[in-house]
Amino acid sequence: SAIDRLGDMIAEASVVVPFTGAGISTESGIPDFRSPGGLWSRNQPIPFDAFVARQDARDEAWRRRFAMESVFKTARPGRGHRALANLYRAGKIPAVLTQNIDNLHQASGFAEHDVVELHGNTTYARCIGCGKRYEIDWVKWCWDRTGHAPHCTACDEPVKTATISFGQAMPEAEMHRAAELAKQCDLMLAIGSSLVVWPAAGLPITAKNSGAKLVIINNESTDQDELADLVIRYDIGEVLGPFVGN
Ligand code: OAD
Ligand code: ZN
Repeated sequence: SAIDRLGDMIAEASVVVPFTGAGISTESGIPDFRSPGGLWSRNQPIPFDAFVARQDARDEAWRRRFAMESVFKTARPGRGHRALANLYRAGKIPAVLTQNIDNLHQASGFAEHDVVELHGNTTYARCIGCGKRYEIDWVKWCWDRTGHAPHCTACDEPVKTATISFGQAMPEAEMHRAAELAKQCDLMLAIGSSLVVWPAAGLPITAKNSGAKLVIINNESTDQDELADLVIRYDIGEVLGPFVGN
């Protein structure tokens, strides 16, 4: 079966690097972006320049974020996260490259510095001017008092979830580290991503161009399927469940 084939490829590889998208977290109750019922089917994304320019855009962004708070707070790693953490503990996986912002790779047992977050993290906030960190609960406390998204207590610039919005610069150190890991691995697992958002979607191609094998696990087809050595078009929890260990 395809799962046996995946097991063989993992066994034969010495460095396996996963590249994950929102599909690995749907089992944890977090909606993805582009599926029917996904976040972008309900709302248009708020671009970074709008967030910077307009208080009403910032308020809308925070209103949406607060609406998701109980989902992010209670979400637990699924079988996909746990399988990757198991391979990480076994020394097969040096780090995970993720487009996800939900902190679930860390929660599954990856050390903080071995989760390369390409699109940031929504479980805390930062000032877009000076980078000062704020907790979501503090932002909510300000919101409840004023009815608006807060500004930084140090420099007065807007406070935003620590995520990368469309139009916002990619995190340079993370992109660099991700590209290095993509070049070093001999097996890349692209898991639960539509592979349409760039530059992140270039990472499986970088891996492939550097001689790695590529496996795509996703329940719909992607533009990179022809490039892959193995495509498993099936539920991630079911495919990776056998690798969870104990
Ligand atoms: P998408 O929503 O674009 O793609 C998720 C993919 O996972 C879809 O192809 C789903 O079919 C698939 N999927 C969902 N649940 C699955 C399951 N249980 N088993 C198998 N497949 C499943 O999410 P991403 O590719 O992560 O960026 O999106 C990339 C970026 O677009 C995000 O990081 C975010 C978004 O806009 C920013 O906000 C900058
Ligand atoms: Zn500031």
